[in-house]
This record gives sequence, structure tokens and C-alpha cells, in this order.
Amino acid sequence: MKIAVAGGTGMTGSLVVDRLRTRGHDVVVLARAAGVDLVTGDGLADKLSGIDTVVDATSIVARKASDYVHFFGSVASNLQSAGAAAGVRRIVTLSIVGIDGLGGGPFAHYDGKNAQEKATLAGSVPTTILRATQFHGFAGQLIDWTAKGGLLPCPKQPCQPIDVAVVADRLADLATTDESNPHVRLDIAGPEVHLMRDLVRRTAAARGQKLIVIPVWLPGKTAKAIRNGALTAPKDATILGGTFDEWLARTYPR
Ligand SMILES: NC(=O)c1ccc[n+]([C@@H]2O[C@H](COP(=O)([O-])OP(=O)(O)OC[C@H]3O[C@@H](n4cnc5c(N)ncnc54)[C@H](OP(=O)(O)O)[C@@H]3O)[C@@H](O)[C@H]2O)c1
Repeated sequence: MKIAVAGGTGMTGSLVVDRLRTRGHDVVVLARAAGVDLVTGDGLADKLSGIDTVVDATSIVARKASDYVHFFGSVASNLQSAGAAAGVRRIVTLSIVGIDGLGGGPFAHYDGKNAQEKATLAGSVPTTILRATQFHGFAGQLIDWTAKGGLLPCPKQPCQPIDVAVVADRLADLATTDESNPHVRLDIAGPEVHLMRDLVRRTAAARGQKLIVIPVWLPGKTAKAIRNGALTAPKDATILGGTFDEWLARTYPR
């Protein structure tokens, strides 16, 4: 098959590209580094010629909810409209478990993900939305993005982390499955529930990084929903992959 991976230079997307190429598929990368701006649509139409399936694993790091909504909404709409024009048969979009109605403040990324899901479901190309929980490496990303002067404020956030390698496997499977349903949504999660602040502490320790995690209480409906487990696996989720401990030992061997 001929498959385009939007965000194919990124953390998740590059793993999907590797898997698809190993399985013998013809893969086209859609990213600015490959000459395509998915927000403006520049360069997209040419790259979609002959493509069967598009995987959307794009992302940005921004501050404001409006930036996330603009980015994810534009990318999803452009992939839908250019995909329909090129005869693409399916779009597989990576999203996040439990994000319905969540967003704002430190959770503004979820405003963008909700806009992305809405925009792709509004299009005519059938979409499979794969919602995953936070990756095992997310605690480390939080440290890199938000720790200042050795301090990191962290609200109570139950999570059920999953191995990004397993998420990439699943995306590659879905990209090569001939699905006849118009739109499908699937949830996947890792095997154990943890508090994000514990994973942050343990990641910092495994990295040999001095970090004090400050428990904070955040107001608002998103923070409350997350405290109550909104980001953990829903009942019908598929549980996949190994534990955080196994991943940590593999990633930061002593
Ligand atoms: N981290 C987690 O725990 C987690 C859990 C569940 C789901 N997810 C979802 O996983 C997705 C992928 O995240 P990631 O961390 O793997 O992404 P990432 O490493 O930040 O990669 C982002 C990709 O998007 C591309 N991109 C950014 N702006 C673009 C533009 N204007 N036009 C074309 N391409 C553009 C980048 O390439 P260029 O810079 O070359 O353009 C890059 O390939 C996100 O949507 C996130 O919500 C993450």
C-alpha cells in the first residue's frame, strides 16, 4: 500500500514510518521538513497522489488554546479536503483518551485535539480515531516543558501510561487494515494506573535529575475531571504493552 504519515518526522510518526517501511509499504512523509506545511496546505496535494491511507501523528507545543485549535483543526481539515480530492480511502488519526469537553489553561492541548477530532469527523474520508493514554515518556516531557529551577508543580492526575512503540504498532496496523465502517473510534491504554506526579519523580530520579515535585490543586472542570480519572482507560479500552517500570528500566539502564 501507499501510505502518507503526517508528522512522520516526529516521535510517534517516525516509529510509524519505520514499521510501515519494514512491512514493505511505500511511505510518504508529510511534515515541513519534507516540504509540506499542513496548516496552510502548501505542498500537500502533490504528495497525496496515489495514497491509500493517511496517518495523522502531527503535533505542536504552544501556549494558547486558540493556537492548538488553529493548528490541529487546520491540519485535520486540510488532510480531509486534500485527501478526498486525491481519492484517499481512510485517515487514521492519533488522539488522546478521555478528552471530550476538556481543555483550557495547562490542558489547552486538549482543545486542539477536540478540534482535530471534530474536523476530521466532519470530512468525507472515513476516519479511524485511535485514542491513546499518555505515553510512558510523557512524565519526562512534562519535566522538559514545565520544570523551572528544579521545581515542577503537578496536580493530582491519575494516568494509565502506554508504550509509544505499541501505539505506533497499532497505528501501522490500522493504516493497513481495510475498514469498511465510515468512522470508527478506538481507545487503547497501558496496563496500570499511576499518579502522574509519581511518574515525574521516578523519571527525574532515573535520569539523575534533581527535581522537587510540588503537589498543586487546580480549579475548574477540566482539572476536576482529570482528578477523577478522565484520562484513564474507559471500560471498552484495549489494554496493550508493558508496564511503566519495565519501560523505565529499559530507557534508563543503570
Ligand atoms: N505524548 C503523549 O503522551 C501522547 C499520548 C497520546 C496521544 N498523543 C498525540 O500524539 C501526537 C503526536 O505527538 P508527538 O509527540 O509524537 O509529535 P512530535 O514529536 O512533536 O512531532 C510532531 C510532528 O508534526 C509535524 N508538524 C508540526 N507542524 C507542522 C506543520 N505545520 N506542517 C506539517 N507538519 C507539521 C512535525 O514535523 P515538522 O516540524 O518537520 O513540520 C513532526 O513530524 C499528538 O497529536 C499528541 O496529541 C501524545
